Amino acid sequence: METLIMNAELPEAMERAARLFSSGELVAFPTETVYGLGANALDRKAVLSIFAAKGRPADNPLIVHIWNRSQMTGLCEIPKDAEKLMDAFWPGPLTMLFPRTEKVPDEVTAGLPTVAIRMPSLPCAHKMLQVCGLPIAAPSANRSGRPSPTTAAHVMEDMAGRIPLILDGGPCQVGLESTVLDLTRGDPTILRPGGVTKEMIQEVLGRDVEVAGSVLRPLKPDEKALSPGMRYKHYAPTGTVTLVEGEGEAVHRVMREQCTSDRLAGRKSCVLCFTEHLDLFPDCDPHDIGSREDDREVAHRLFDVLRRLDQEGMETIYSEVVPAEGVGLAVMNRLGRAAGFRTLKAE
Ligand code: TXA
Ligand code: MG
Repeated sequence: METLIMNAELPEAMERAARLFSSGELVAFPTETVYGLGANALDRKAVLSIFAAKGRPADNPLIVHIWNRSQMTGLCEIPKDAEKLMDAFWPGPLTMLFPRTEKVPDEVTAGLPTVAIRMPSLPCAHKMLQVCGLPIAAPSANRSGRPSPTTAAHVMEDMAGRIPLILDGGPCQVGLESTVLDLTRGDPTILRPGGVTKEMIQEVLGRDVEVAGSVLRPLKPDEKALSPGMRYKHYAPTGTVTLVEGEGEAVHRVMREQCTSDRLAGRKSCVLCFTEHLDLFPDCDPHDIGSREDDREVAHRLFDVLRRLDQEGMETIYSEVVPAEGVGLAVMNRLGRAAGFRTLKAE
């Protein structure tokens, strides 16, 4: 199959996407977070073909994308707290779980009693959802286990020949996937941190929000994943990523030592560091992850940097870390999983 790329702003592109969706085909499209791989959420066969194109395990449920709240009628119940959060953060990078009806196919929810729904804010995504008029089930448009795509070129790398159309809306502004929040049992719980932060949600709800334990550490062998996606290895480059924690100077020294000794042993090695520290690693092929003053910039760049590591054939990678607060929590979740939570403490 030939994969066409079209400018997402063009009316012809929207119409073509709408036609493909109604005939059960897949279309990759940009959102403010990452690119999604969409299908009509009410068409079981189309939804199954998403899993085939990605090589995704069938027990990992999908997010349904809408442009208008009326599309939720008949699909799910809406808890009171959810209304407040929709008012505050939709459209935007917040996905919520809702108790669902029979109308939502099991293929979308992996048989779970809840359905994940979000309303993207990127204008061309919003417009595309409006033009096609269907709820669109869409995971990130990467092959399973690869970093989520933040440009149309990333999608092409993973999906060429597997889908008929990619809408190109340029680089994604947020660069990390949406926050996934569970309001359906006990205290509100963040299953996956993203651009809408714990602090922002707490402020709207006026109460504490929990963060699932597996966000900053691996699942324990007997622990049940609240979100099936957390069970899978994710965002992992082929090389071995190690996070280096500690006080500034010591961190930089340890990163230099490790990288240098790997290079002497003949391994391809590099460091991931803040823009401000690029000069500290002249012999370590420093990769810029953005300014340490700007978590949102680090979030925006991270997946592109992770994808480059594989293209460059990096075998060992040593990375600085950010405080796990605000958007930093999402950055540390993705970096942690890329590293399999392997951490070195610099003294
Ligand atoms: O920003 C995003 O959320 C992007 C764009 C395309 O919207 N989508 C995305 O989808 O990241 P995906 O499939 O890569 O990640 C969805 C996550 C997975 O970890 C999945 O397990 C979880 O949401 N999820 C979906 N439905 C769920 C449910 N009913 N209960 C618990 N977790 C759910
Ligand atoms: Mg994904």
